[in-house]
Amino acid sequence: MRVFVTGASGWIGSAVVPELITAGHEVVGLARTVEAATALTAAGVGVRRGSLDDLESLHAGAEDSDGVIHLAFKHDFTDMAGAGRTERAAVETIGNALEGSDRPFLFASGVTGIAPGRIATERVAAGSGPDAPRGGGEQLALDYADRGVRPVSVRFATTVHGEGDHGFVAVLAGIAREKGVSGYVGDGANRWPAVHRRDAAHLVRLALENAPAGAIVNAIGEEGVRARDIAEVIGRHLNIPTVSVAPEDAAAHFGWVGPIFSLDSPGSSELTQELLGWVPTHPTLMEDLEAGYYFE
Ligand SMILES: NC(=O)c1ccc[n+]([C@@H]2O[C@H](COP(=O)([O-])OP(=O)(O)OC[C@H]3O[C@@H](n4cnc5c(N)ncnc54)[C@H](OP(=O)(O)O)[C@@H]3O)[C@@H](O)[C@H]2O)c1
Repeated sequence: MRVFVTGASGWIGSAVVPELITAGHEVVGLARTVEAATALTAAGVGVRRGSLDDLESLHAGAEDSDGVIHLAFKHDFTDMAGAGRTERAAVETIGNALEGSDRPFLFASGVTGIAPGRIATERVAAGSGPDAPRGGGEQLALDYADRGVRPVSVRFATTVHGEGDHGFVAVLAGIAREKGVSGYVGDGANRWPAVHRRDAAHLVRLALENAPAGAIVNAIGEEGVRARDIAEVIGRHLNIPTVSVAPEDAAAHFGWVGPIFSLDSPGSSELTQELLGWVPTHPTLMEDLEAGYYFE
């Protein structure tokens, strides 16, 4: 399959690319910079220059493909409304380009915060409309199942970890280093689901190839890792104390990641594993943290 991948140069995308190529797919990646284009070429990927703000590039990339994997996202956590608007426009553009073709349209979503305090299964609805998380892009895309597209939502765990990770857990380690203490919020019993980057990439390929129209799949390898356990391993590796931060001080202590690190947001992938025969095999979050590269 000739697959157009947005976000191919990103953390998850750069693991999805070799997964697709090894399985015999041809990959064309969206690149907004010369650096991204160079990296994609080196990885054996065709390049389409463009960006999320250049809807023509998204339309043309989707039209000229046998399927789309949409992973690009504006990770400006100070302007999530703006990121949501961009996401809606991108989803509409790609969906319209694929309309009536029965081609797959995989897109990234997340389990974080969609069912606080409960296990987020694939059956939990994430909401719809522009005010829903990520601009309601998920429901907007899933609705293309009625318009001759095979949309599939891949909801990633809160942390997609592995060597080279610059995401939430790396940010927490950075904050701990800067503050001289490794914090967790309240009693730290709140949980984050986790998945190894390579397990996530494998699931993306399986879903591209086999998931039915309108499916929601959960890229979750571990249902929930306690925040306190994450903070303790960070503290131990950095040789600093691990402390509780009062919920009302979380925003000041952790900045933009505070509200996310306060969430109890476990999730399950039982239905996904049954549907696609996906079995996570790569290291757990704790194994990755113990390996030490988050602290180099
Ligand atoms: N990593 C996680 O823990 C996690 C958890 C839940 C959900 N997700 C979701 O999974 C998807 C992939 O995440 P990731 O961790 O791989 O993100 P990432 O490492 O931040 O990569 C984001 C990708 O999007 C591209 N991008 C950003 N803004 C763009 C724009 N304006 N135009 C075109 N491309 C743009 C980036 O291109 P450049 O290379 O040019 O910067 C990069 O390829 C995202 O939708 C994310 O929200 C991730």
